[in-house]
Formats: sequence, structure tokens, C-alpha cells
Amino acid sequence: MTMKLDDLETPVAVVDLDRLARNLDRAAKYANQHGLALRPHIKTHKSPRIASEQLKRGAVGVTCATTFEAEVMSEVCDDLLVAYPPVGARRAERLAALPETTRVTVALDSMAAIEQIAAAAAAADRAIGVYVELDLGMHRVGTPSIDTAIELARAVAARPPLEFEGIGFYPGHIREPVGDQGSKLAALDAALRQAVDAFERAGLRPSVVSGGSTPTLWQTHELAHVTEFRPGTYVYNDRTTAELRACEWSDCALTVHATVVSTAVPGQAVIDAGAKALGREPMRGVDAAEGFGSLEEHPEVVVKSMSEEHGILDLSRSSWRPQVGERVRVIPNHVCIVVHLNDVIVGARGEVVETSWPVVARGRGFSLPVGEPVGA
Ligand SMILES: Cc1ncc(COP(=O)(O)O)c(C=O)c1O
Repeated sequence: MTMKLDDLETPVAVVDLDRLARNLDRAAKYANQHGLALRPHIKTHKSPRIASEQLKRGAVGVTCATTFEAEVMSEVCDDLLVAYPPVGARRAERLAALPETTRVTVALDSMAAIEQIAAAAAAADRAIGVYVELDLGMHRVGTPSIDTAIELARAVAARPPLEFEGIGFYPGHIREPVGDQGSKLAALDAALRQAVDAFERAGLRPSVVSGGSTPTLWQTHELAHVTEFRPGTYVYNDRTTAELRACEWSDCALTVHATVVSTAVPGQAVIDAGAKALGREPMRGVDAAEGFGSLEEHPEVVVKSMSEEHGILDLSRSSWRPQVGERVRVIPNHVCIVVHLNDVIVGARGEVVETSWPVVARGRGFSLPVGEPVGA
């Protein structure tokens, strides 16, 4: 029996499979055209099934943030980058315990991380690749000092089975609309040029220079030294991506389907998608874009506020007056958070539900001792 989207209970996260395929194809084609290695960040979908689609289209491997993501992805991918500091003995041990046939690389910015991952790699008797992370403007992780980065690279090279592979950075500070990124991209390009020159002078030629994000995806080729890029959000896209014009609204593949549950208060409607369905993610980098999502069918309507299970639609800029029971599709501000809030994602073509898949790499993948009930 065919199931229609309107048969699904709400709130539910639905992916338009045609849009997903188009997004995957477009990035693969761009990588190909510009001779760039595509290593997508899987934090957006956390699904081996979608990772397999990326690999099938030529991705050289995938990027993960969490150890559990790496463990899950090792089932479908034999070349993993963990773009997250491998700090903590258990984290390092788990990374070193990934299947031996899997190439594992980590990105790091401290001697402490080097010591821990070196100890785990030695104990497991396996090679682990290392990117030294540079801070090129985001001010999150990465060293701002090229000299420090070179010292870290030397320390890596001196600790086999670690292998120095290259430089990593994340241009998450570039949140301007696509047409306005020029000066920041030029500064990034200059900083990379300086870093690569300095590494070469120090005799540590980075064979990989890895960066990239979705807002800057289509400009990656303007960064002369980048060899590998790691967009994540591009598989589904979201309101932020569309507002920044890094995709069309019609490229937003994941929407949260919701039902209007109340129109009792004038000027607004309430849907059954609140913070626990949409995430409480503000728009970043987009002037005057308020709210936590916008409606696909009525783009002028935004989710202006939320409780846990209530989303309040602002109708003040719209002539649309929904009925209780009417269904809507919300394009979320930040799709990665929405995926993480769901056990299962539904895949549809047109109005027909075709498939669904579990968000396998959700969670931490470690078990904690469960004690007796308090007071027992
Ligand atoms: C280290 C790193 N690389 C790549 C990405 C992917 O960027 P985007 O979500 O803009 O596609 C992220 C996103 O958080 C990241 O943290």
C-alpha cells in the first residue's frame, strides 16, 4: 500500500529524495570539475546510507566529529577524518580501535592531543594520520600561530606510527551571503599561502590542505592551496544556506512536516513542531532574519518563538490564515540539529513516502553504568 506524506503523524522530518540526489550530484560534479577531493562531513546526516551515496559519487572518504560517528561510518567507509581534537584517553583508544583496514586521520592543535593519540596508536600498533589545525579566523580550535603549527607537525613526524599529513582549517567565520564573501576569502587564501610556504620552508610539505563549509562550498576553488573540502550541510541545505544564497530554496531537501494545532490567539498559529523538533538555533550571519524556521509554502511566515512542543507562526506579514489541522512544512534554520533530534528520517518522492532510514550515528556510542533507582 502506498503511503502518502499526509498519512504520516507529525512532527516528522522528511527528505525529498530528488532534491537530495541533486545536492549530492552537484557537489560531486563541482569537486570533479575543480580537481578537489570531496570529504563530506557526515554530522549533517549521521547515516551510513547517505555516506554510501556520497562515496559512490566519488567522495574520497568522510569527515566525522564524534568518535561514534567514526565507528558507525567505518562500516561503509575505509578513509575517515575525525576533524575534532582527539583528547581524552578513551576517545583516543576508540579511534585507534577502528578497523585496521580503515585509514584514520585526526585534526588537532595541541601537544596534549598528540601525546594521547600517539600513545593510543602505538598501543594499537597502527598508523594514524594527523592534520595540524590552523585557526584562520573562526577562533574555535586551531592554532593562530604558524610557528606553533610547524612545531606540532614536527612533533607528529617524530612520533611514528603517527604520520603528518597536512593542514586543516574550518572557515566557519565566513557567514556572508555568497556574493559578499570576497574579502574574507581573499584573506583566507593569503593566510593559507603563507602557512603552506612556511611549512615547505620547514621541510614539512603538507600533502593535504583540508577546509571547507557549505556557505563557501562553491568558492572553494578560489582558495589556491586547498586540496580537500568538507561540506556537510549541503546534502540537505537549510534556511541559513538558502538565505546566504549558497543554494536555492528549492534545494532545501529536508523539511519538518507539522500540523496547525491552534489558531486561538489572533495574528498567529501554533504548530506541533517546537524546540524539540526544530532545535533552538538562531539565524547566524543573515541580517534581519528572525525566527527558527520558515514555511516552504509561505516563505513570509516564520516560526517566531517556540516552547518545547509548540511552534508559534507569525502571520503578521501574511494573508494566509490556516485552519486547525492544516499541515505545513518548515525549513529549519540549521538542519544538522534537526537530524540529531530524530531517530528516523523519512524519504519521499513527490507526495509518496518511499523509504526511511535511522539516524544511526546519533548519540555517543558509549554505555554508562545504570544504577539502582534513587531511594531503592
Ligand atoms: C570541522 C568542520 N568541517 C566541516 C564542517 C562542515 O561545514 P558545513 O556545515 O558548513 O557544511 C563543519 C561544520 O560544522 C566542521 O565543524
